[in-house]
Amino acid sequence: MSSGILSRRFVFSGGRVIDPAAGVDAVRDVVVADGVVAGPEAAEGAERIDARGLVIGPGLVDLHTHLREPGDEHKETVATGTRAAALGGYTAVAAMANTRPVADNAAVIQAVRDLATAAGLCDVFPVGATTRGLGGEVLAEMGEMVAAGVRVFSDDGLPVPTARLLRNALLYVRAFGDDVVIAEHAEDGSLVEGGHMHEGIRSASLGLAGRPSEAEEIVVARDLALARATGGRLHLCHLSSARAVELVRRAKEEGVRVTAEVTPHHLTFTDEDLLTYDTNRKVNPPLRSAEDRDALRRGLADGTIDAVATDHAPHAVEEKDAEFDLAPPGTIGLETALGAVITALVEPGHVSLSRAIEAMSTTPARILGAGEHGGPIAPGSPANLVVFDPEQERVVEPPFASKARNSAFLGRRLRGAVLYTVLRGDLVVAEGKPTR
Ligand code: DOR
Repeated sequence: MSSGILSRRFVFSGGRVIDPAAGVDAVRDVVVADGVVAGPEAAEGAERIDARGLVIGPGLVDLHTHLREPGDEHKETVATGTRAAALGGYTAVAAMANTRPVADNAAVIQAVRDLATAAGLCDVFPVGATTRGLGGEVLAEMGEMVAAGVRVFSDDGLPVPTARLLRNALLYVRAFGDDVVIAEHAEDGSLVEGGHMHEGIRSASLGLAGRPSEAEEIVVARDLALARATGGRLHLCHLSSARAVELVRRAKEEGVRVTAEVTPHHLTFTDEDLLTYDTNRKVNPPLRSAEDRDALRRGLADGTIDAVATDHAPHAVEEKDAEFDLAPPGTIGLETALGAVITALVEPGHVSLSRAIEAMSTTPARILGAGEHGGPIAPGSPANLVVFDPEQERVVEPPFASKARNSAFLGRRLRGAVLYTVLRGDLVVAEGKPTR
């Protein structure tokens, strides 16, 4: 961050400010001065950026990003991944622990943070592994990582395999108070082994082994039972099935300390979208039926599902350019998430724009404990902002800022274009382009 840019003052004038943290949805100017949101008195002499017709919100926050560094820099690096994040309107992302080496100790956590600071494009909150080496046998050095600032633990890509180990993890995080959470990838290993897509009539006709919905349902039910029993905070990653949404709904009614996320691709696609064997749509958990997708949409609308998270999972072209059953699972998502949510949910009227921003910024910031993010957009608050055109349409196509191009949305027309991203008062994206 150069102090030259930091000290700049500018005003987004005449935009529609949607700030769920403050309950604001109104046309007004937003003044940025010296890294923070400022009062109208600071507007004098400041550069004006015409924001008429644009939406100004708190910078987006992603609970689920794979940055791949260290270890898989051919897929993505912290620098390229955070550039993709900034272009997508994100000012903070949680970086998953399934790197090589695994982020299961304070040294790797600090290394990822240092790379992010050097890139200066987006704040990165490294997630610590729940179990050592993602091995599912013993808990990682969670205390050491909490001391190093970690607030989310996850073996994402895999669930914690045994109830006993997860119970211990939940008891352990409870001891840290409200701040620390276990994020679970809910797929039962014995049921998904060898499977490549949702198990159902489509997998049968395509001749691909399936990953049944029960695989998710069983782990969600187990995890909710353990969260209920221990009082430990649980977060459920990328829900994909209607029954899992229903289980979370009931658990919340009972007061279980659980939050949940859904991805833009699970909100958009179904297993019907795999008829062309498009490996970019091979994801874990898999795209399921239209009924499942519709239940996810309803769950997001009514707050059962708290947040939209990308599961940005970059893979190299040659890795995805393989037979469906050999290709690794995952789609990139940071650069398309906002457009995908506006297109699949806001435009057809499933959720309001304000609910979408809440689910992509305000709430994930709270879950992550990222107090500088998610609003409110009020004088004195760090200026972490996204400014986007809710009407502008774009076809998803390379080049991407991400090193990867495995987007499930390739060729799709999405509505909603990020024009400015502001990180602590620094315009890291301006007029739709990165400034560095
Ligand atoms: O599709 C996925 N890809 N799901 C995951 O949970 C892991 C991720 C990855 O790391 O590639």
